[in-house]
Amino acid sequence: RPGPGGRPAPRATGSLLVDNIGELVTNSPAGVGPLGLRRDVALLVEDGEVAWVGPARDAPAADRRIDAEGAAVLPGFVDSHAHLVFAGDRAAEFAARMAGEPYTGGGIRTTVGATRAASDDELRATVRRLRGEAMRQGTTTIEIKSGYGLTVADEARSLRIAAEFSDDTTFLGAHVVPAEYADRPDDYVGVVCGPMLAAAAPYARWIDVFCERGAFDVDHARAILACGQAVGLGVRVHANQLGPGPGVQLGVELGAASVDHCTHLSDADVDALASTTVDRTSGAETTTVATLLPGAEFSTRSPYPDARRLLDAGVTVALATDCNPGSSYTSSMPFCIALAVREMRMTPAEAVRAATAGGAAALRRRDVGRLEPGARADLMILDAPSHLHLAYRPGVPLIRQVLHNGVPQCR
Ligand code: NIG
Ligand code: FE
Repeated sequence: RPGPGGRPAPRATGSLLVDNIGELVTNSPAGVGPLGLRRDVALLVEDGEVAWVGPARDAPAADRRIDAEGAAVLPGFVDSHAHLVFAGDRAAEFAARMAGEPYTGGGIRTTVGATRAASDDELRATVRRLRGEAMRQGTTTIEIKSGYGLTVADEARSLRIAAEFSDDTTFLGAHVVPAEYADRPDDYVGVVCGPMLAAAAPYARWIDVFCERGAFDVDHARAILACGQAVGLGVRVHANQLGPGPGVQLGVELGAASVDHCTHLSDADVDALASTTVDRTSGAETTTVATLLPGAEFSTRSPYPDARRLLDAGVTVALATDCNPGSSYTSSMPFCIALAVREMRMTPAEAVRAATAGGAAALRRRDVGRLEPGARADLMILDAPSHLHLAYRPGVPLIRQVLHNGVPQCR
């Protein structure tokens, strides 16, 4: 696949051996338990991919070596939901919430105003800063949405800039109805499906809609997602965040890769997520992942989604940050893992899996979220002997080193 913006991603050349790994999370059935754990192994990287994993004594010779010193090594986190293209912040809105104001999504329009007024370079600098923050915390794959431009030109440039940093870019022109269309939402939906989609689609892999009271109703959401599908974009939905609603079942009906938030679910929603559907064109079985975003519940002081209920029903769960200036201004996957374990009844292993393989499933990616031959050499070495420490030691910077495409990232 091409790198961000169509450019080939930088890849390490030559071979690199990571050895003295105390615990390797592979997410492969070849290992033990839900994380496919392997102990006392080494991992060989060649041309930016994992070429070999095995007992250290059998390790092949390599051009370079990294000694993991008995630490845990994990696949890089796959953050499948982030809104990084924006300007300004909403710290005052956060303070008001912590003093008792509810979150309604109304502040999105504040960020839309600031984003429209920003230059391309200002937006690019914000994405670069947040991308860097995320990478230092172990995130090697991050989805990036538009959705704070909400004009044809501002959505197109948001995605053009997003594509400089990620292969997984998402057109969210249907984030809210912008103020200038407040009394004619049908007209705005026409713009989203027409000129805005045409301008955005060359830079986007996905289309998303905020299907919620106060944003887009189910008929508008279905129409917009269908237009995106018709030009080849994959579907994802912001669904059931602020209250019960039709978004989750709409996503499943359309074969969405993921429905995100899933905070207020009925039994029928859970049943729909637990079902598999058969893709009409390829005939392949697909599932819709439930992506949970606990940073949003933390920052809006709302009840957390019930991950246990979804896992017990057999639903594939992903964890992501929802990084945005309004409802969840964190780029930290370790923070989300800690919240999921403490507040959402996930085991540490389930949370780590959801933050790696779960995110990859939510982006329909096979090349990331696992560490076995053929996967991208996207990995992190912890300052800890086990993945358990990510939840056990909340708020502690435990990511010692990150490799992206086999390339060690600067600290
Ligand atoms: O995922 N829910 C809609 N969109 C974002 C919030 C955006 C904002 O408040 O600026 C979310 O939480
Ligand atoms: Fe979001």
